[in-house]
Amino acid sequence: MKTISILGSTGSIGTQALEIVSANPDRFRISALTCGRNINLLSHQIRTFSPEIAVAERAEDALELQKIHPGTEILWGAEGLIRAAESPCDLLLNSLVGMMGLVPTFHAICKGKDIALANKETLVAGGQLIMDAVHNAGVRLLPVDSEHSAIFQCLQGNSGNPVKRLILTASGGPFRGWTKEQLRQVTLEQALDHPRWTMGPKITVDSATLMNKGLEVIEARWLFDVAPEQIQVAVHPQSIVHSMVEFRDNSILAQLGNPDMRVPIAYAFSWPERVPFRESGLDLFGSGACLTFEEVDEQAFPCLGYARKALEYGDSYAIALNGANEVLVDLFLRGRISFMDIPDKLGIIMEEHRPVSIDCIDTILQVDRQIREEAARLAAGV
Ligand SMILES: NC(=O)c1ccc[n+]([C@@H]2O[C@H](COP(=O)([O-])OP(=O)(O)OC[C@H]3O[C@@H](n4cnc5c(N)ncnc54)[C@H](OP(=O)(O)O)[C@@H]3O)[C@@H](O)[C@H]2O)c1
Repeated sequence: MKTISILGSTGSIGTQALEIVSANPDRFRISALTCGRNINLLSHQIRTFSPEIAVAERAEDALELQKIHPGTEILWGAEGLIRAAESPCDLLLNSLVGMMGLVPTFHAICKGKDIALANKETLVAGGQLIMDAVHNAGVRLLPVDSEHSAIFQCLQGNSGNPVKRLILTASGGPFRGWTKEQLRQVTLEQALDHPRWTMGPKITVDSATLMNKGLEVIEARWLFDVAPEQIQVAVHPQSIVHSMVEFRDNSILAQLGNPDMRVPIAYAFSWPERVPFRESGLDLFGSGACLTFEEVDEQAFPCLGYARKALEYGDSYAIALNGANEVLVDLFLRGRISFMDIPDKLGIIMEEHRPVSIDCIDTILQVDRQIREEAARLAAGV
């Protein structure tokens, strides 16, 4: 029996992770669960999974939950997330959205916990520092993102074989093939209508701007310790091939399947085993079986290029890119800026960023705070 804690259990990844736990009661037991403000769902999850600890964003919500669930210790805020991350479990799934995922992941690693990582902002902002902590603590960092899970799966049994190229696939999002001029007319509703995946709002917008793929390139660089130029992105609209690895003999291994996040989540939970799924898998002769690959139109979607630049320039550039992107996406979600304001303003922020060398988590948080203020000012036209 493996005990699992889930940060962000009420989100898209968190709820799918709990489906895996429910379907495998003999394999997995829940130790801690956390939410932001969706306390009704968290309350339901506490009743179903009886965790030792649960965390809500606000104190008043936590105190309310404590009255209903006296058998569970209910905490709140950033401190509560750290306590949940550090509390005893065999594996911590971090499925928080955004930069708030970084600190709890770092604390859990330092406490010697294996991590199933969905929160991509942890590695985008924390990069080298997180990987150093992983190596020093001797823990495992198991990828949950479907692309990184695919690469991780292709690498199994290949530890002695140098990688020539990682090929990250991208669905292309809802605006594949659109010109820059067409993208200027995009509405919030269109941006939230992803053709293949149902996800939280932030990653859905990131997928539409292709920033999501940029964040994944940065994540892959750290997870698999490859040079940025070894990572290629291919638009694959069917989302059947989840990513590929090319070895030095030019053999390419790929991982295929229907777009279903429960598969990489379950693999991270049970690695190196695989858990059975009741549903049938990919229909090779069905309509989704035609596999095509295209290059990214980086003129129309410059965010991928910004992410590559952030890797090339090093220091605090990826933190700046990530923090500014979070602010701009949030403003777009609240109807305050247009879709194309996101890449336009990110380009300015990357150009004007004054890099800082990163030596500890506090420096990352400081740069992140500063860049958020700058991005908000820029977006407000101040
Ligand atoms: N969804 C996918 O298919 C997918 C695939 C690959 C990678 N990822 C990555 O996984 C991460 C999670 O994505 P998601 O789509 O699952 O996001 P999501 O649906 O928005 O869920 C985010 C989770 O974080 C919680 N949260 C939000 N604000 C919070 C706060 N201030 N304090 C504490 N908790 C807070 C949310 O709680 P409430 O529900 O209470 O708001 C929710 O549990 C992201 O980094 C994303 O890039 C997602």
